[in-house]
Amino acid sequence: MKKTVPIRPFWYSDVFLFPKLITIVTTLDSEGRVNAGPYSHIMQYDVMHKHPRILLGFRNTSDTFKNIEATGEFVINCPSADYLEDMMETARFYPEGVNELEHTRFTMIPSQKVAPPSIAECGQIIECTVDRIEHLDRTQGHVIGNIEALVFDEELIDMNREERIRALNLPIGLGDEKRKYYYYSFTDRLAMYELQEIVEEEGAKPDIRTGMPWDSAALEALVRVPRGVRRMVIWQTERRMKKAGHPEVTLERFRELAREYGMDDEVLNRFETESQG
Ligand SMILES: Cc1cc2nc3c(=O)[nH]c(=O)nc-3n(C[C@H](O)[C@H](O)[C@H](O)COP(=O)(O)O)c2cc1C
Repeated sequence: MKKTVPIRPFWYSDVFLFPKLITIVTTLDSEGRVNAGPYSHIMQYDVMHKHPRILLGFRNTSDTFKNIEATGEFVINCPSADYLEDMMETARFYPEGVNELEHTRFTMIPSQKVAPPSIAECGQIIECTVDRIEHLDRTQGHVIGNIEALVFDEELIDMNREERIRALNLPIGLGDEKRKYYYYSFTDRLAMYELQEIVEEEGAKPDIRTGMPWDSAALEALVRVPRGVRRMVIWQTERRMKKAGHPEVTLERFRELAREYGMDDEVLNRFETESQG
């Protein structure tokens, strides 16, 4: 039998299980002093855009949020499970102006594009500048950040996904009890499922519904776009063609637009070799 529970503050952490990414956000205050704190309310903001952004949720009295408002820059560092204790150290309520990293095994290194430092021991890092800050109500603030750099330990870059999952060894946040006991799990048991294509009858035309004419070469390219994003690609392409006064989508225009959205030849070729139908 299903049963409801009271909807209380912190429901997303206390009672409902939301597995989350664990990060340490580093910032500078207006006097240039380093601050670090763990943050998990983080997600990608634009899926298909040349300049993708990222969304973070804060209690608006946190030093991190105040520093981001003051300086417009921050770094998201992803620590491995071996550094959970150090990550928890950065969550302690040290007085304003204290660099929490000095109480940990973490080492600060200069970032590539922004002033706040990065953490050397973190294998993947996102450097950000502020695009927008929303004060949601009296307690919450959302930051939408521009991604200025995605930084990896060099040896991770050419690994396949499984190797990278194992090497990064990221902990998964599972919420807390009484704001005191924080739970984590580990990515040492992996499962992979292949997304199966719907089998079409031989000779059947792929199900592509366009709203304006596409020439045959453009249609062929469209068939190679993975199904999951095809409708969005059609919508964006046609919207742009109409705006530019083009009556038809040609391969050349399609490719030009794709490149404008950051889908360079490497991405397009990946689609073409990895996705069929
Ligand atoms: C794993 C973990 C994730 C957290 N995620 C968030 C979060 O997404 N948003 C938030 O406001 N606080 C979050 N906190 C709480 C802050 O990290 C904590 O209040 C910290 O002391 C804030 O530090 P600061 O004031 O130096 O920014 C999290 C704490 C932990 C341990």
